[in-house]
Amino acid sequence: MTNHRIALIPGDGIGREVTPAACAVLSGIGARHGITFDYDEFDWSCARYRAQGAMMPENGLDQISGHDAIFLGAVGEVGVPDHVSLWGLLIPIRRRFNQYVNLRPIKVFEGVDSPVRGARSGEVDLVVVRENVEGEYSEIGGRSGQGTEAEMAVQEAVFTRAGVRRIAEYALRLAERRGGSVTSATKSNGIVHTMPFWDEIVAECAAGHPGVSLTSEHIDALCAKLVLNPARFDVLLASNLFGDILSDLTAAIAGGIGIAPAGNINPEREFPSMFEPVHGSAPDIAGKGLANPLGAIWTAAMLLDHLGHTEAAAEVESAMRGVLAEARVRTPDLGGSATTSEFTKAVLEFAGA
Ligand code: NAD
Ligand code: IPM
Ligand code: MN
Repeated sequence: MTNHRIALIPGDGIGREVTPAACAVLSGIGARHGITFDYDEFDWSCARYRAQGAMMPENGLDQISGHDAIFLGAVGEVGVPDHVSLWGLLIPIRRRFNQYVNLRPIKVFEGVDSPVRGARSGEVDLVVVRENVEGEYSEIGGRSGQGTEAEMAVQEAVFTRAGVRRIAEYALRLAERRGGSVTSATKSNGIVHTMPFWDEIVAECAAGHPGVSLTSEHIDALCAKLVLNPARFDVLLASNLFGDILSDLTAAIAGGIGIAPAGNINPEREFPSMFEPVHGSAPDIAGKGLANPLGAIWTAAMLLDHLGHTEAAAEVESAMRGVLAEARVRTPDLGGSATTSEFTKAVLEFAGA
């Protein structure tokens, strides 16, 4: 038997609805592979912020630094400014635990109609490798002249050689293992300092991986090409902001953002990695039991894989795939009428767990 301690942060909105789905699948399918989980649940959320003035306790990060992994539902609530809630919880976790890779795979599954004509199952299979701790998301900057006509805000993007190199190397090695290619998102025509720097370092790294073909595409053109022909892409390497946007776009290509999983990975394993679906707290559907738990379930598979349980992870993915292919049970975002828990039950039944 192997036991893992997971720090569970359901968060807000549908985060609280999809987290139980992920746990049910982890425990249900894990048990068959001799894996058990202990969950330590934390109420860190906008509700906590409203009650206590902070998203998490001051020593919150110390409380979860010894866990094998972190699972987070979603964060954000109408009424609490998003920069307050996210910089009070999600972003500090990514940074303190040096989770510099945000891994966001996507596939068009059999039984799910892509809104993109010609995006067929089996053909669209790509991974966004997003830089996750620097870039356009930075604390450097400020505001001045508040309340005057001269008011201004400045936000500095931070790109370091070491930061770009390690994410590029990660993407190149991943492409090597997949026998695929890397497309690097740039915007060197408009953003004249950081993006040419990004391109230079990515090209230098690619020279050390002669088996991987590297293409650089401006982010605007890349978005259009992804919609027109998603099947031709494999690994998409992107800065923090570009990777964020690309991952909602690729999720939509696969049928909707409720499907997409993510791992915030610390490849050196000095710290726990964090797993969370790509979607947010979806206040428009929260509390109705309508959230698609697929993103959270697929994320649970990524967590299993990260902890070395490749077979259990593959079983979760094949159960998801099986339920979708049968096309009987699906949530409203995919055109069905199943609830979050009905879909989760179908996945567990399919797996025989
Ligand atoms: P969102 O992902 O929450 O929702 C966008 C749209 O997709 C909504 O119409 C929603 O109903 C739908 N949707 C999302 N997940 C779904 C699911 N599992 N099943 C069915 N439909 C789903 O994005 P948003 O509206 O931009 O953000 C809402 C809040 O979430 C904000 O506070 C935002 O800051 C936060 N957010 C948090 C995270 C995170 O914690 N990782 C990620 C993104 C957004
Ligand atoms: C995501 C989210 C976050 C991000 C927000 C909520 C800060 O959109 O994980 O994709 O931009 O990283
Ligand atoms: Mn996002």
